[in-house]
Amino acid sequence: MPDVITIDGPSASGKSSVARRVAAGLGLPYVSSGLIYRGVTYQVGRYGVDPQDEAAILHLLSHHPIQLVPLPEGNRMLAEGQDVTAHMHTLEIDQAVSAVARHPEVRAYVYRSLRALQPPFVVEGRDMGSTVFPDAALKFYLTAAPEVRARRRVGERDADYATVLADLLRRDAADAKQIPPAPDAIIIDTSAMGLEEVVNTILERIRT
Ligand code: ADP
Ligand code: CDP
Repeated sequence: MPDVITIDGPSASGKSSVARRVAAGLGLPYVSSGLIYRGVTYQVGRYGVDPQDEAAILHLLSHHPIQLVPLPEGNRMLAEGQDVTAHMHTLEIDQAVSAVARHPEVRAYVYRSLRALQPPFVVEGRDMGSTVFPDAALKFYLTAAPEVRARRRVGERDADYATVLADLLRRDAADAKQIPPAPDAIIIDTSAMGLEEVVNTILERIRT
């Protein structure tokens, strides 16, 4: 079995739901890289740090550390030892996270955290296959039409379809530099696929 399996893709393409199920099918942990960017963004908001000030964000993290806990049933985020996972998937964090994630030193911090984890695992994000784990044996990239992704996400946010779609399109554009799939990734358009179908497609590719 491969050491590291990467699943990348834009917002609400199904990365975390699919990664969790694929990892469970293989008996491996799964790792959400986006949750680390969300954790950093949470601390930035909590301590009133300027999201444009890269040095201040790094200073903040060294004094008020966060920790990803990759549990099989769902990854948790600890901020200074307190479980703040329930605060990670709000529209406020959605709207602020890309600005925080664009800083090279913030990305380097997240890369270090991910590379410190002991394989094997399934990891999901934007640039796991292209940048963080370029030697991963198997790489997948999920896509879906923006309207389909917004419809999936709308039930999970305290916001209407138009607001969710607008945020998703804005974040797609803001994240675009980080998004290109690894050249050796298997691309799966999930627009007309159910969750189980995507999971089974990936598990079949891994097992053959
Ligand atoms: P991401 O991690 O890429 O943001 P999620 O895994 O959180 O995406 O999926 C967003 C929502 O869409 C979840 O409610 C999930 O159950 C649902 N979903 C994901 N993939 C599919 C699919 N292929 N068909 C239908 N719903 C899906
Ligand atoms: O699935 P969704 O995009 O809604 O959320 P996420 O995967 O938790 O990622 C949140 C944000 O973190 C993204 O919009 C990116 O700005 C950033 N991110 C990133 O830059 N690189 C990654 N590998 C993962 C997330």
